[in-house]
Amino acid sequence: MKVNKEKGWTEGGFHRTSNKPRITAAQLKKVVLDNRTEVCLYTRVERKSTIIWAKRGFNMNETISFKVNDKSVSLTTDSERTLLWVLRTDLGLTGTKYGCGKGLCGACTVIVDERAVRSCVVPVRSIKGKKVFTIEGLAKNGKLHPIQEAFVKHDALQCGFCTPGMILNAYSLLLRNPQPTKAEIIRGMENNLCRCAAHLRIIRAIESAVQKMKGTRQK
Ligand code: FES
Ligand code: FES
Repeated sequence: MKVNKEKGWTEGGFHRTSNKPRITAAQLKKVVLDNRTEVCLYTRVERKSTIIWAKRGFNMNETISFKVNDKSVSLTTDSERTLLWVLRTDLGLTGTKYGCGKGLCGACTVIVDERAVRSCVVPVRSIKGKKVFTIEGLAKNGKLHPIQEAFVKHDALQCGFCTPGMILNAYSLLLRNPQPTKAEIIRGMENNLCRCAAHLRIIRAIESAVQKMKGTRQK
């Protein structure tokens, strides 16, 4: 990691072989503003940018209360931060994964008031008073949820990075439609991406969970 004193930012994450940053200061500012303070790749730069924001009054600290996995949480933070990073860094719930950071891959899916949401694009201010479920809250009394069991049984994962988002998206799908057809499962899951290409096994696992949960509305 190298600090460019002349330009005044840390550039190691962007360019490993030369002193020149790969992106311009203007582009950098746009990246940071677009992603707020939260993109891993830009952490060092963002810290610096956060200071700039603070000077400009962008950091609006607010006390926000909500429930996570049935426990009440109250924290004072920049209300523009995303739910993803509040879960991961403030609450230590690292089962929720950071993939694209743009709402495209589904790795960061959590349940808010029984709907699947992409926590990387949800500002924490918007979940005031709501109920959030993460993958850590799905097993009850040490027993896996039937969807989790089915993922294990059908080997519906390889690296596992997409798995929490897949399982929670399936969970939300089955809350809305407890007896989906295969086509409905595919449609409901098609926007969650698996880089290991485990999609067929994922669909099979969800079909099997549907059979197991028949006649129940299991939360
Ligand atoms: S990390 Fe949120 S959708 Fe990709
Ligand atoms: S199991 Fe690796 S990304 Fe889905």
